[in-house]
Amino acid sequence: MKKICTVVGARPQFIKLAVVSRELRKEFQEVLIHTGQHYDHNMSDVFFEEMDIPKPDYNLGVSGGSHGQMTGQMLIKLEEVFMEEQPDMVLLFGDTNSTMAAALAAVKLHIPVCHVEAGNRFGTLESPEEVNRTVTDHVSAINLPCTESSMVFLEREGLGATATVVGDPMYDAFCYYTGRLDGSELQEMQDFEGNAVVLPDEFYYMTCHRQENTDTDEKLDGIFSAMETLDAPTIYPVHPRNHDRAARLCREKGYRKLILTLPVGYQASISLVNKAKKIVTDSGGVQREAFFAGKPCVTVLDFVVWPETMKDGCNRLAKPDREDILAKLSAPVCFDPAYRPFGDGHSAKKIVEKIKEFLQ
Ligand code: UD1
Ligand code: UDP
Repeated sequence: MKKICTVVGARPQFIKLAVVSRELRKEFQEVLIHTGQHYDHNMSDVFFEEMDIPKPDYNLGVSGGSHGQMTGQMLIKLEEVFMEEQPDMVLLFGDTNSTMAAALAAVKLHIPVCHVEAGNRFGTLESPEEVNRTVTDHVSAINLPCTESSMVFLEREGLGATATVVGDPMYDAFCYYTGRLDGSELQEMQDFEGNAVVLPDEFYYMTCHRQENTDTDEKLDGIFSAMETLDAPTIYPVHPRNHDRAARLCREKGYRKLILTLPVGYQASISLVNKAKKIVTDSGGVQREAFFAGKPCVTVLDFVVWPETMKDGCNRLAKPDREDILAKLSAPVCFDPAYRPFGDGHSAKKIVEKIKEFLQ
């Protein structure tokens, strides 16, 4: 069997890995490398446990620091592992520092790279993710974009011959795990003191973790104050990046409608998506999940990442500003159930087929 080294490090990559690894292991020997970028139990282990992901063969223990420090340390350690393992291909997801570090380490050793979720573009290198995905796309032997719009970017950059649209493994995961939800997944939610959180009958679901929204009180409070004025509470599982700031702001401002929780597992998160009135997020994954579930979404970012979700107002961009968020949340929305731009829920099979074709 040919050997594939899969490299992951952050929460959304574990979710994509869960569905892809299951298919990959039918055809290949997979060596799983966790860079260590996300390391808290509820940012990492919980996904491996609840999604039956095999235990990583390596955990490189690299996290935190500046972008350069994190990426550089990962590059050094990944090169050592690749030299030891001598894989036939390296498989990567998305656009984190773990993705780019692995792409550079592999291509310098002349190991071909397969990049899943290739081709997304904001149009500005000010975003660390844009740097990561652009570099990774350009050194990958196979690019596997989720949608036609991502394919267009790859073609524009002269990468069309490397690329095939395969659909979105996040959609595979959403279809597979939504079918297994029974409500028990929501019983584990905890507030910051570790107390159980009781879910209100009606609520909004919010996730917010981007540096650009969470690094100043002003921006985060622009979002919080919008949620505080809504007609139902908001469930907000807080990324560790802004745990302290979120807790302090809620305390200082006396907000009562924001229910801050520790990060939740994947099944709890998609269950919240399915049950929420509407969604406010800056997450690439959650804005797609809102679309998959037919829930109106407001994305607090300056740039469109997933244009397909924007059709007919299903997803709208907003500034981290109370009035803008409220205006976008109340704007009209129309979902077309026949419009399914993220594939058929079987992208993992197509990803494995493409790897097979390439390695034959
Ligand atoms: C990273 C990705 C981002 C992705 C997100 C998914 C990059 C550049 N960014 O952002 O694209 O959307 O993951 O969630 O790769 N921390 C903990 N515990 C953890 C993980 C993080 O305390 O388990 C804290 C650390 O202080 C760390 C900070 O959060 O310094 C930021 O983590 P980092 O992995 O650098 O970036 P994310 O914001 O998670
Ligand atoms: N998610 C989760 N627990 C949470 C918040 C989000 O499991 O507390 C899931 C969410 O449903 C989606 C994925 O994490 O599947 C998105 O990851 P994240 O927002 O961290 O990264 P992004 O998609 O923005 O890169």
